[in-house]
Amino acid sequence: MIRLLYLAAAVLFIFGLKGLGSPRTARRGNQLAALGMFLAIAVTVYELIDLDAEVKWAIILGGAAVGATIGAVLALKVQMTSMPELVAAFNGFGGGASALVALSEIEQSGGFFDTETSVVVAMSVAIGTVTLSGSFVAYGKLKGLITGQPVAMPGGTATNAALAAVAVGLAAWGVASDDALAYWLLGALALVVGVTAVMPIGGADMPVVISLLNSLSGVAAATAGLVIGNLALIVGGALVGAAGLILTFQMGEAMNRTLANVLFAGFGGDGGAAAGDIGTQPVNRATPEDVAIALAYADRVIVVPGYGLAVAQAQHAVRDLARALEGRGITTEYAIHPVAGRMPGHMNVLLAEADIDYEVLLDLDQSNPRFSLTDVVLVIGANDVVNPAARDDSTSPIYGMPILEVDHAATTVVIKRSLSPGFAGIDNPLFYQDSTLMLFADAKAGLDDITAALADI
Ligand code: TAP
Repeated sequence: MIRLLYLAAAVLFIFGLKGLGSPRTARRGNQLAALGMFLAIAVTVYELIDLDAEVKWAIILGGAAVGATIGAVLALKVQMTSMPELVAAFNGFGGGASALVALSEIEQSGGFFDTETSVVVAMSVAIGTVTLSGSFVAYGKLKGLITGQPVAMPGGTATNAALAAVAVGLAAWGVASDDALAYWLLGALALVVGVTAVMPIGGADMPVVISLLNSLSGVAAATAGLVIGNLALIVGGALVGAAGLILTFQMGEAMNRTLANVLFAGFGGDGGAAAGDIGTQPVNRATPEDVAIALAYADRVIVVPGYGLAVAQAQHAVRDLARALEGRGITTEYAIHPVAGRMPGHMNVLLAEADIDYEVLLDLDQSNPRFSLTDVVLVIGANDVVNPAARDDSTSPIYGMPILEVDHAATTVVIKRSLSPGFAGIDNPLFYQDSTLMLFADAKAGLDDITAALADI
């Protein structure tokens, strides 16, 4: 019965993940996964009662209450734009918890393990603690507590390779002797490796690193599940491990970066480019009234949302403008770049929040052939994902990253507050094109002004 219930929890995780594949079903997917997690915890506690009558209820219920309260408060308070930091913290705690599970098994068993279990314990301790410290370095970089610039470690990659070799030695000692000290030392060393591996990676690459650490936290959980023979933990951990790895590769692809390049190349600062080179050329400045006139005479409009739309919380304002356009018979669609914003699916989540129909969201491949047939493209708080330098300038740091080719539209309107660069910290030739109108405004205020001006035409 216990195994069947664990299987049911695993099935709920899988349906939950499937649901997360589309904004329409994401909420339901999340609920299914949460139900699966509740079932897994309930069955684990039941199993414990079955095995040991003297269950320490105060610790179990107290831990659950503290964890649930922290989780609920964080989930309610966190801004969408800070989601990567929250995920980093969750990964760190997940990795740390898995390492503690494995270490407590060592302490309790007095080191009487078969070789397979010892190997798995060593893996759980090492991967879990690397994930713990690496995730908190990533958290600090994203929060601005640590510099977002790559910080070179003494000895660089060679130091990390040497530390990894010592870790393998400690693991071998632990497996051979079952001495708990070896595993504790392994955990301590892996904590250091987490720091030395993530510090040299720039803030710009942190979301990819967080996705990789997410995958590692899954592997740590799966190995902890093997140590204590918990089926739900094994399946849940394996799912997180696989999903995190797939996401890591997809993000790398969308940014035209290989994983090795992210981990070892030391590219990617925190967006602080040489300001002197940026925004020195003349631009076509537009007022909200100018933009409203351009829109009023259009047949086809495509909206390109970016990070600035999220910061300004302008999703409802863009929906109101789109409704006004549709009321005039103007076709309005949205082009979503896979890495627009700061996390995968960022724009989809925002637009879904404003009840924008999923049918009018276009991905990169659907959007690009349409831009040349579009009268007005409205770029709202997006920068890097529409930067033609990624296509045309082989010396650009983002050269090769697939972009939304908004420069092919008859008119491109860019709404942002200044000529400041985006995440990659580089200038954008789009802003200086003859066919581009720059509306310097906060995304929400600018959109509201355009909608108001449109009503008078
Ligand atoms: P960015 O290139 O970062 O540009 C955002 C722009 O929004 C800025 O230039 C900023 O200009 C503007 N902005 C900020 N606040 C605003 C506000 N209140 N109102 C209006 N505009 C505002 O954004 P993007 O085009 O969405 O590109 C995303 C970047 O993040 C890419 O470089 C991508 O590689 C990177 N990245 C994304 C992900 C994922 S998974 N999405 C992961 C890692 C990295 P002003 O200051 O002039 O207003």
